[in-house]
Amino acid sequence: MPEDPMGNAVLLHFLCGVLAVFSASLVNADDPYRYYTWTVTYGTVKLLDVPQQVILINGQFPGPRLDVVTNDNIILNLFNKLDQPFLLTWNGIKQRKNSWQDGVLGTNCPIPPNSNYTYKFQTKDQIGSFTYFPSTLFHKAAGGYGAINIYERPRIPIPFPVPDGDFTLLIGDWYKSSHKTLQAYLDSGRTLSFPDGVLINGQTYSTFSGDQGKTYMFRISNVGMSTSLNFRIQGHSMKLVEVEGSHTVQNMYDSLDVHVGQSVAVLVTLNQAPKDYYIIASSRFNRKNLTTTAILHYSNSRTPASGPLPAAPSYGFHGSMMQARTYRWNLTASAARPNPQGSYHYGKITPTKTIVLANSAPLINGKRRYAVNRVSYINSDTPLKLADYFGIPGIFSVDSIESSPSGGAAFLSTSVMSANLHDFLEIVFQNDEITMQSWHLDGYDFWVIGYGNDQWTPAKRSLYNLDDALTRHTVQVYPKSWTAIYVSLDNQGMWNMRSAIWERQYLGQQFYLRVWTQVHSLANEYEIPPNALRCGKAIGIRS
Ligand SMILES: *[C@@H]1O[C@H](CO)[C@@H](O)[C@H](O)[C@H]1NC(C)=O
Ligand SMILES: *[C@@H]1O[C@H](CO)[C@@H](O)[C@H](O)[C@H]1NC(C)=O
Ligand SMILES: *[C@@H]1O[C@H](CO)[C@@H](O)[C@H](O)[C@H]1NC(C)=O
Repeated sequence: MPEDPMGNAVLLHFLCGVLAVFSASLVNADDPYRYYTWTVTYGTVKLLDVPQQVILINGQFPGPRLDVVTNDNIILNLFNKLDQPFLLTWNGIKQRKNSWQDGVLGTNCPIPPNSNYTYKFQTKDQIGSFTYFPSTLFHKAAGGYGAINIYERPRIPIPFPVPDGDFTLLIGDWYKSSHKTLQAYLDSGRTLSFPDGVLINGQTYSTFSGDQGKTYMFRISNVGMSTSLNFRIQGHSMKLVEVEGSHTVQNMYDSLDVHVGQSVAVLVTLNQAPKDYYIIASSRFNRKNLTTTAILHYSNSRTPASGPLPAAPSYGFHGSMMQARTYRWNLTASAARPNPQGSYHYGKITPTKTIVLANSAPLINGKRRYAVNRVSYINSDTPLKLADYFGIPGIFSVDSIESSPSGGAAFLSTSVMSANLHDFLEIVFQNDEITMQSWHLDGYDFWVIGYGNDQWTPAKRSLYNLDDALTRHTVQVYPKSWTAIYVSLDNQGMWNMRSAIWERQYLGQQFYLRVWTQVHSLANEYEIPPNALRCGKAIGIRS
């Protein structure tokens, strides 16, 4: 959620009132620090019948869960013991004024093998369910991912009773092939076949235990490569309470579609007869049926789970879009800060600019690539952020990517779209292909104001939800359809806009949004971190 002028005013007023009493402690009060040391290695695990190489963090797959509180400072020293350069990115962590720590190749040099880098960032004004994962090469196909749960500060009300327990479920499709094999496939110009299975927390047999009559939170994130998943629990309905940091209107659902890169949190009351029940994650729109189950175990149960599994929704894309439209912001609920989410009237703001982004799958030099508005992104050896900061020319190309689709052949470029700090953008994702898309923007969350079929036109604005659309960081776009968002550019930096479908990201369906102002001020953006790694043309340059 963006800075809220009203909330700030209220807070300031409050602070002035108590300043005399608390002045010293307020001025000196620093948000808490949390220190982590993580080591990344390969390991061999049997996941889908066959032993295979995966990426472990501190020996774990999935990696350690970060359980933190709003505004915590995270100091995380990451040691890379792989045979390849490595980075983690923090999916949905906004990195306010701090794209230096975003952990993608446009902002950071990758950590070389047998080397380390210490990330320093704050979970500023954030609350809810997020994830991290490797952003380099095709490492994500080997794991290396984990959950980030940000809890409320003491005395900040959340819009539901504190649950009796809290479960984190990382669900995602999975290949039996190694990340290097998959990458070699893509590098040779081929596309990946359909994944081999679905994992829940790196397993096909997890168990979650609770007491009859109690209510539990399930935080569900799709950490997979390409497959939209449907999530459901036999015999139980789910109350949606949070989507990527937004507190929602609390509707009940029998099943939820979770698209790649997305997170949702639901409350489930164990109100059924004492036995065990199936938890199901299954592929949503594909002819190939991938299904994995876990177990919801009642602590007083003596009866194992038994079939049949509750059926996946019979409706297709249209029904899924209808479900997506029922996700609404609870306007009166607070989020990470105590002011109501709806106090920022996004629907009354006139956008500074409209950008239409169309994805495509062109052949370039005879090889399959993915592109947005004709441009297929290629990484630079020098992070764009460092090139920008040190004034190294020739690294990226501003405005090679157009702000709306146009005819002509696709081409390769290290493309950056420029925008002004405090612009308010209307962005339309136009999907003319027949596959599901999922788009993510780093550094922000945005209002998802509309989903519709066919071609977007200005007339489609009449379909927008300008009252209680929720904010999130990753949004799906249905085949032959469009999705529209509003985003308030209140966070200066170099921000990755990418497909969350990992093959597409790897082969060019991404670019960077450079949010900039002439005024050089620490109030807008932090200085380069003293430990920033150097690579490419930034080698040897001192800050
Ligand atoms: C690598 O780790 C050491 C401590 O073991 C730390 O002093 C150093 O700053 C780290 N390097 C970077 C680039 O963060
Ligand atoms: C919205 O949040 C408020 C405040 O916490 C809560 O009382 C109310 O039940 C919520 N409304 C809905 C529809 O979820
Ligand atoms: C998919 O597979 C699961 C488990 O193998 C099965 O229970 C379910 O009925 C299948 N669904 C469809 C639509 O075939």
